[in-house]
Amino acid sequence: MSIQIKGTGCFVPEKVLSNQDLEKIVDTTDEWITTRTGIKNRHIAPEDMPTSDMALAAAKNALENAGISADDLDFIIVATSSGDHPFPSTACVLQGKLGMKKKCQCFDISAACSGLLYSLDTGANLLRGHKNYRYGLMIGAEKLSYLADWKDRATCVLFGDAASAVILEKVDDGSDESCLLATDLGADGSCVSLLLHPAGGTAIPVTAENVDTHENALNMNGPEVFKHAVPAMVSAAKTVLADANIPADRLRWVIPHQANKRIIDAVAARLDVTEDHVYVNIQNYGNTSAASIGLCLDELSRSGQLQKGDLVLATTFGAGLTWAAALIRW
Ligand code: COA
Repeated sequence: MSIQIKGTGCFVPEKVLSNQDLEKIVDTTDEWITTRTGIKNRHIAPEDMPTSDMALAAAKNALENAGISADDLDFIIVATSSGDHPFPSTACVLQGKLGMKKKCQCFDISAACSGLLYSLDTGANLLRGHKNYRYGLMIGAEKLSYLADWKDRATCVLFGDAASAVILEKVDDGSDESCLLATDLGADGSCVSLLLHPAGGTAIPVTAENVDTHENALNMNGPEVFKHAVPAMVSAAKTVLADANIPADRLRWVIPHQANKRIIDAVAARLDVTEDHVYVNIQNYGNTSAASIGLCLDELSRSGQLQKGDLVLATTFGAGLTWAAALIRW
């Protein structure tokens, strides 16, 4: 029995918000954003497009790529921090929108930017653990434009909207292989306050007052998050390489979470990986949180830059603080 990647997909909303557009909204410059983050553009979903609609488009794209139908799926996991509702899960909403007759299990994962890798790890184990399961759909979908504080120049320039999807398949081939050669996941709950959406839950219910003070918008201590991000992503990446006994020079691609080009460069340098093996698309999308890794995988796959058997190391970091790395054989 082996676990393989059967297909990928993505969806990016049409509307582009450039650094020049942001210069008209907050006190910033294209020069500051480009040199401090590497971001040039991000995509923004229309007001009437909930996260589940982006997830739906990415799911259909991946199902087509995999050559299977929605009713072949045995579970749906949506990784998101910006779901349609506090409950039910966006995965349930998505199942309804896919019009599935098969009432498979559906749930969300809240692991911020590490969400897709958390989902892949969980999804691979679900396939292994259920005799009759064959296909699982994992989605990373975010409408962070809705959570952003558009008066805070330190955060609103960083994020973008998108969804990405990966379909895993269990193949009864007599082997015991997985496309996930090794994974390393973790979290440090003592750092919750560094990056969070404070209000809107039971800790700080939404009131007219905290809407005015932007407490119901994304809140981040950027420099502190930066300090934690690099060592956590590097440590997780080194752990999976050591677990799988694969040297970094055998990697076709390293895909760091696309949060800041300076973070990406620092991670690549510490892993001793050259630029031509590091995938970067942050200039086009900004930080799309849980969608980021899947967006990279889908772009690489569809542009022919990933061949069967290639080794890919994805490493992420996000609110929680969470981190995750996965060594993937394509
Ligand atoms: N435009 C212009 N100036 C800005 C600005 C903007 N958009 N945002 C912040 N500044 C200013 C600050 O006010 C500060 O001014 P001051 O020196 O007069 O006080 C100056 O730029 C430096 O701010 P600082 O926050 O120290 O900058 P930085 O180099 O740390 O970059 C981040 C800020 C947010 C880009 C960076 O810390 C970062 O990327 N952190 C990680 C965040 C992240 O990845 N989060 C998601 C995790 S998944």
